[in-house]
Amino acid sequence: MTEFAEFMERALYDPEHGFYESGRAGRRGGHFITSPEIGPLFGAVIGWMLDRRWEELGCPDPFTVIDAGAGPGTLARTVATAEPDCTPALRWINVERSTAGRSAHTVGESTPGMPHGPITGVILANELLDNLPLRLFDSDGDEVGDRPASSETRLTPRQDQACAWLAHALSILSQGTVVVIDYMSTTEEMASRPWPEWLRTYRGHERGDDPWTAPGTQDITCEVALDQLSAVCQPTRVTDQAAWLKAHGINKLVAEGSAAWQAGAARGDLAALAGRSRAIEAEALLDPDGLGGFTVAEWEVPATN
Ligand SMILES: C[S@@+](CC[C@H](N)C(=O)[O-])C[C@H]1O[C@@H](n2cnc3c(N)ncnc32)[C@H](O)[C@@H]1O
Repeated sequence: MTEFAEFMERALYDPEHGFYESGRAGRRGGHFITSPEIGPLFGAVIGWMLDRRWEELGCPDPFTVIDAGAGPGTLARTVATAEPDCTPALRWINVERSTAGRSAHTVGESTPGMPHGPITGVILANELLDNLPLRLFDSDGDEVGDRPASSETRLTPRQDQACAWLAHALSILSQGTVVVIDYMSTTEEMASRPWPEWLRTYRGHERGDDPWTAPGTQDITCEVALDQLSAVCQPTRVTDQAAWLKAHGINKLVAEGSAAWQAGAARGDLAALAGRSRAIEAEALLDPDGLGGFTVAEWEVPATN
């Protein structure tokens, strides 16, 4: 039997037919667009957060930031546009396994795998862990493979690859922070809900079929079990995206945008328009039923000496 993880690996990442290699992936669509793809505001908040971390670390140079699962590298572009104070020291590394994604990178370094380290800085993973192949078990403890499970069956996810990713990220960080942003849940909670609620597929801008149908034509994504990540290492902080963005200056950036809009509205210049769009972007990023309800888990790695 092929394990579900192996099936998911091929369906998403097969060099020829995988969803993320075939050019079909594009951007997660509709309601499920990712935060960096909403517009430049998310990158501006990340830039603000990076400056605080950089200062807390004593302004190291280089200050390394890894965007793990960078997709087309939009976050790197929007952070660069925001011109944070740490820019002169910033070494930005986009880690993206798909060739299609890497070919779109225009800012920072671009590599298919996590660097070895050690690094001082920040490792970000926005909507990466939900895309890593996982194992599935039914209530008898039997492993689910490449044959469809009935939607009535209660399944339990085991996210070994997500856990291994976190362990590796922590191991290469000599000082700094790992920030994981994703839709999260717990193993127990998922085991008690019908699996189609937490193991979802997307094709284009719509929900897709069950994960076993037409592999390579749809995204497969699973809520991330925070308890499994916590067993690797207890996070330093856990909050939701709305609270996290507010703690990192989103309201101030929106207010600045509104002021720019009011000052430049009569002229209709680009800065004024960008200012106005911040309010609309903030609404999507803070929506408690959407991106604002995502979980942000952070692991601080202090200096060892
Ligand atoms: C849902 S996308 C998120 C992209 C981006 N972070 C964003 O928020 O828009 C997940 C990305 O992770 C990439 N990916 C999956 N597994 C990976 C791995 N082990 N290493 C690097 N990238 C990976 C996929 O190819 C895909 O581009």
